[in-house]
Amino acid sequence: MEDNVIVRLDNCSIAFDGETVLNNLSLDIHDEEFVTLLGPSGCGKTTTLRFIGGFLTPDSGRVLFDGKDVTHVPPYKREVNTVFQRYALFPHLNVFENIAFGLRLKKVPENEIKELVGEMIELVNLRGFESRKIGAMSGGQQQRVAIARALVNKPRILLLDEPLGALDLKLRKDMQVELKRIQQQLDITFVYVTHDQEEALTMSDTVVVMNDGIIQQIGTPEDIYNEPRNAFVADFIGESNIIEGIMHEDYLVQFAGEKFKCVDKGFEKDEFVDVVVRPEDIQIVTPNKGDLWGVVKSVVFKGVHFEMLIEQAGYTWKVHSTQSAEPGAQVGLKIGPDEIHIMKRSEA
Ligand SMILES: Nc1ncnc2c1ncn2[C@@H]1O[C@H](COP(=O)(O)OP(=O)(O)OP(=O)(O)O)[C@@H](O)[C@H]1O
Ligand SMILES: [Mg+2]
Repeated sequence: MEDNVIVRLDNCSIAFDGETVLNNLSLDIHDEEFVTLLGPSGCGKTTTLRFIGGFLTPDSGRVLFDGKDVTHVPPYKREVNTVFQRYALFPHLNVFENIAFGLRLKKVPENEIKELVGEMIELVNLRGFESRKIGAMSGGQQQRVAIARALVNKPRILLLDEPLGALDLKLRKDMQVELKRIQQQLDITFVYVTHDQEEALTMSDTVVVMNDGIIQQIGTPEDIYNEPRNAFVADFIGESNIIEGIMHEDYLVQFAGEKFKCVDKGFEKDEFVDVVVRPEDIQIVTPNKGDLWGVVKSVVFKGVHFEMLIEQAGYTWKVHSTQSAEPGAQVGLKIGPDEIHIMKRSEA
């Protein structure tokens, strides 16, 4: 196996009460990689994380760590720590003692504890808070303590299960940047779970998109965004227009009643396909200049752009544009070949 693979999930499956929750899941995680498991609620993200942490054993399949089979190795014997959404800090202990807790259990000498905890407090920007009680810390500060506590014994992998879920949007954004910095500063592997696509795209080296216990796509944020492999990924990653089409021949697709040049090839002649067009990739033009024409149904200002719904031959297109149009107006829609993404038909 590639030598920088630190964790390999090899065909892992599990069922609860007869319901398959993860189905032959295989995934390689590389040393110092920031990997995000992304998918809707219930798709199996936490379950996957628990395999890696050792809190759960798959019914079949193996978990490898540095190439060694650790499927049945308990959590405390793995070089892995976890940060949970509910931070599970000790309310009766102060910040220093919360971070020091695991070291004290391991009977680490006092001067070493001082040094290690001090380092962590520095890392998460909590200097001056050492003797504060947890109850007197804000949500964001508590999250920092939880991260420091999970990192203090220098795990090789940190698992983070929706660690920012309880924070408000502004704080979430700040902590995203912080977490990325911490990961890079420590050169360790992060496996991060979220159902927030923007968070996944911002922070990760690699995004693993999951649905219904099955990996839909693994790739860089750019890959996932620009080249979604199926309609599920396209829809989950960005708001997309997904419409049925027919691929007549290489570089020629038909949808919404019109033929379009596109950049895709390699389909069967007249194969039925899913066509994905992102709302920001559709241009609003005067009706006679468009590839399609429709009627503006609604216009909502979204801060940076206007979101318009445009009805065209029974289909409603979502369009994002910095230019507004009047509801009821007739408009042309222009879609360039590069903006048309053709996908194999999927059940999703
Ligand atoms: N111990 C269990 N017993 C029974 N069912 C379980 C158990 N653990 C998880 N499940 C089920 O497995 C599925 C996947 O759960 P999991 O917690 O991995 O989802 P998730 O992707 O983390 O979702 P969320 O985003 O809501 O946290 C769910 O349908 C859940 O109800
Ligand atoms: Mg979960």
